[in-house]
Amino acid sequence: MSETLWGGKLAGEVAAYTAGDDRVWDRRLVEWDIVGTLGHAEGLAAAGILGADEHERLRAALRRALADARSGALTVTAGDEDVHTALERRLVRDLGELGEKVHTGRSRNDQVLVDLRLYVKDRLLAVTGRLLDTSQALVDLARRHRRVVWPGYTHQRRAMPSSVGLWAAGFAEALLDDLEPLEAALRLVDRSPLGSAAGFGVPLPLDRALVARRLGFAAVQHNVTAVQPSRGKLDVAVLAALWQIGYDLGKLAFDVILFSSEEFGFLELPAELATGSSIMPQKRNPDVFELTRARAGVIEGCLHEAMAVAGKLPSGYHRDLQMLKGPLMRGLNTAEGMLTMTSFAIPKLGVNREVCAAAVGGDVLATDEVLRRVRGGEPFRAAYRAVAAEVRDGVHPPPLGTDEILAARTHAGGAGNLGLGELGTAIRTRRRGLERRRAAFAAALAGLTGDEGGG
Ligand code: ARG
Repeated sequence: MSETLWGGKLAGEVAAYTAGDDRVWDRRLVEWDIVGTLGHAEGLAAAGILGADEHERLRAALRRALADARSGALTVTAGDEDVHTALERRLVRDLGELGEKVHTGRSRNDQVLVDLRLYVKDRLLAVTGRLLDTSQALVDLARRHRRVVWPGYTHQRRAMPSSVGLWAAGFAEALLDDLEPLEAALRLVDRSPLGSAAGFGVPLPLDRALVARRLGFAAVQHNVTAVQPSRGKLDVAVLAALWQIGYDLGKLAFDVILFSSEEFGFLELPAELATGSSIMPQKRNPDVFELTRARAGVIEGCLHEAMAVAGKLPSGYHRDLQMLKGPLMRGLNTAEGMLTMTSFAIPKLGVNREVCAAAVGGDVLATDEVLRRVRGGEPFRAAYRAVAAEVRDGVHPPPLGTDEILAARTHAGGAGNLGLGELGTAIRTRRRGLERRRAAFAAALAGLTGDEGGG
């Protein structure tokens, strides 16, 4: 039997089935449930529902609970239906009836959403920071090897000259593009659901905007019936943004796997990144990058899972929504882990410049030769046909040195004009914006938690 907030006693199997793995995910929400409750209490006090003395006692108990949550002394146990039950049990232990009073004007439906929104905002800000670190690591790699040419590939066949700098800076730029959907998800998440209660508001004079401000939200989710249906959309928006990051990191990882193989030999994995084999003594395997590639697929799975769970429901709250926590949190952890590992690994990649340069000879210069003739006045198609015939007859285009190759590619974004300065500036600007946002969030939370400048 399991005690519940709503007075029911569930048979053990039913309690286990309805909770599922929710208690595991809810353990990540304990601090946020306390912070959300501190915010809700501000609203109750402003509406005169909590007296000044009651508010003070409640705040003190919540702050003590926060310290215990951080030390691990307060968590969700098997006897609790969920995190909200665990917190109310604790408040009742400390405050008696006052511990129950704080649930006035609130439902677990908006309570879990405020927890999730605070949690997601915190995690997305962390992901943004990791993404900027990764982009910066790629810019640094590009700068170190901007003069190392290697072939660019289409259809996995040598196509035209490229460079390590061009390749790395391309991924740095791609990651900055991924900030756009991340920003959109952050804007969506930055609104307070509190006051919507079960989904239809409450007959109490709650100042929802005040509570939103205290919790550091940019705005209120205005129409109370829009709150619950926003849950699945939010998870999908977050996971879709993370999918793009996984998409880029997965491609980067695949390239590293390929380019560091014996057949290519362009990149070198240092011992600290390479794993071994239990039978083949010579093996130096790229497991780090393979598991990054696989994790990109895991994020995609989380996205599909969230869409499938939330997509077919009518409006309002449904317990189905609980099952969004797994994919949401797994997706966030996965993306953050991938970014952390990639920004750790990229600076350690070795580049074999001789092997790279040696691969930029022969027919990979065929297009350069065509365009050299075009610059000399030949019509393009005629020059193309002439070079094609020569290549067929085994006559290779004349070799070009690294300097010549790079000097001929000075248009914007070409191998001889990477724009690394601009990329660096874009990263620094984004980082300043992120720091401002983090500071504002931390300051708001500190007002509730009493922490020195951070929640
Ligand atoms: N564990 C629930 C969830 O994640 C909390 C809200 C429960 N609300 C309810 N009406 N049973 O959705």
